[in-house]
Amino acid sequence: MENYPFEEKAKAIQEHFECYGQSQVFRFWNDLDGYQRSHLIRQAESIDLPKISEHIRAFLFPEQHKNTSAPDKTFSSAPYLKLPETEADQSLWEEAYVQGEAALHAGKVAVLTIAGGQGTRLGFEGPKGTLGVTPVHRKSLFQVFAEKIRFAEKKYGHFIHWFIMTSQRNHEETIQFFKKNHSFGIQHIHFFQQGLMPAVDFHGKILLEAKDRISMQPDGSGGVFRAFVGGSFVNILQYLNVEIISLCHIDNPLVNVIDPYFIGFHIQQRSNLSFRTIPKQYPEECVGLFVLCEGRTTFVEYTDLLPEQALACDPLGRLKLHAANAGIYIFDREFVQKLGHYDGPLPCHAAKKKVPAIDDNGNPLASTSANGIKFEHCLPDTLALASHSLLLEGKREEIFSPIKNAHGTDSPVTCHHDQLRLFAHWLTKVGVEIPVDASGLPPFDIEISPLFADNERAFLEKWASLSQKPVIGAGTYIE
Ligand code: UTP
Repeated sequence: MENYPFEEKAKAIQEHFECYGQSQVFRFWNDLDGYQRSHLIRQAESIDLPKISEHIRAFLFPEQHKNTSAPDKTFSSAPYLKLPETEADQSLWEEAYVQGEAALHAGKVAVLTIAGGQGTRLGFEGPKGTLGVTPVHRKSLFQVFAEKIRFAEKKYGHFIHWFIMTSQRNHEETIQFFKKNHSFGIQHIHFFQQGLMPAVDFHGKILLEAKDRISMQPDGSGGVFRAFVGGSFVNILQYLNVEIISLCHIDNPLVNVIDPYFIGFHIQQRSNLSFRTIPKQYPEECVGLFVLCEGRTTFVEYTDLLPEQALACDPLGRLKLHAANAGIYIFDREFVQKLGHYDGPLPCHAAKKKVPAIDDNGNPLASTSANGIKFEHCLPDTLALASHSLLLEGKREEIFSPIKNAHGTDSPVTCHHDQLRLFAHWLTKVGVEIPVDASGLPPFDIEISPLFADNERAFLEKWASLSQKPVIGAGTYIE
C-alpha cells in the first residue's frame, strides 16, 4: 500500500480493522490532525491482525484452543542431568568444564540478555537492569552482568560480544544508562528492540493508550529470536565464528552469565538449546516447569497447571512436577537462525496486566489492578522446535534469585539476602569465620565483585592466589 494516497490507504486499513471487529481503534479519528492520523495508521499497519485475532479467540474461548500445555494432558517431570553425586558424576562434570573452557578460549561464545520486560510486578520506574542490587555498592543489574562478562574476557583472553534486548518502552533509557556509565567497560555491545503486540481489554478489543496511539506492548521473552535475527546479529556471530549463545534474564544477579559447565554439557550433548533447571520449592511457587508430555519434554507455565498437578507428590513427599525453569539458557547459533525465521504456530500466553489505556472520552484510565490482556510469546516454548535439548540441574542458592516483586518472595530484599548468603558461603569455604544465622545469612553487608570472581570455583582459585587476604567485616567489598 506504500504508493497509495494516504486517504485511500487509511480507509482500507480502517475497513480491515472493522472486518475484525476492531473499529474502536479509530473512534477518535475526527479529533486527530494529519500528523496524528498518519501515526495511528502506521501503528495499525504494523499489526498482524489475523494472528492477533487468533490469540484473542484463544483467550476468549480457551476450550476451543487447547495447546500442548493444556492441563488435561498427563504430565510427569521431565528428565534432567542431575548435579554430581558420585565420583563418576564429578568426573563427567569436570570433562564438561574443560570442554566449556576450550570453547571460551576459542572465542565461540556470545552473551544475550533479555531486558525488554516492563517489571510490572516490581513497579520500578525505568528499565529493571538499572536497579541497584548489590549489597555494598548498590551496583545495577546491568553492571553486575557487565562485570561477569569482563571477568570471562580477562580469563579467556577474548572480547565477548554482548547483545541486549530492550523494548520500545525502555530502549532509550537503557542506551542512556550505558552511555552515562561508559558501557561498564564492555567493548562490543549491541542493543536491539523486541517486537510489539497490541494489548486488548477483557472482551478482546484492542486498546488505545492515547487518541492517536494503540497500546502496544512488548511481545514477550520469546520475541527475542525474531528481533535478533531481524537485526542481522546472527550474521555478525557467523562472521565472528561464534556458535554458542549464552542467554539469561536480566532480573537475576546470581546467574553465571558465562558458565563453562553448562557450555560444556551443551556441546557434549549436541543440544540445540539447553536450560538450567532448579527444583521447584513449594506448590504455589510462580515458576514455569519442564514436564514430560506424550514422551516429549515440554514447557508449562505455572498459570497453566491445575492445582492438583501443582500439589501432586511422589512417594517420598517431593513435588512430582518439580523441574523449574531458572531463566538461564544456551542456544546454538544455527537454531536461533531457524527460530528467527519460524512463522508456524507457537503458544501465545495471555497475561492479565496493568496496561496504559484511555476511556471513551480519551482520558487516561487510572487503574490499580490489571485492566487488560498482554499477549506474550514465552522463550522456553521454543523447546517444541528443538531436535536435541538438555536440562541441566543447578543449585538454586548459587544461580537463582530473581527480582520480580516489590515485596515478599523474589523481591529486592530476598535477592539482597541471597547474595549475602552466597558470598558468606564462599568465604566460609576458604576458612573465614563469619557469624551466620541458621539460613546462612550474615548479620552485615559484604560484597564480592564479579571482577574478582563470578562463581565459587573461581573464588576459591583467586583467594588461594592472594598473598595478603583481606579482613572481612561489615561493609567489606572485595574486587
Ligand atoms: P518476566 O516475565 O518476569 O517479566 O521477565 P518482567 O517484565 O520482568 O516483569 P513483570 O512480569 O512485568 O512483572 C523475565 C525476563 O524476560 C524479559 C524480562 O526483561 C526479564 O529479563 N522480558 C520479558 C523481555 O525481555 N521482554 C518481554 O516482553 C517480557
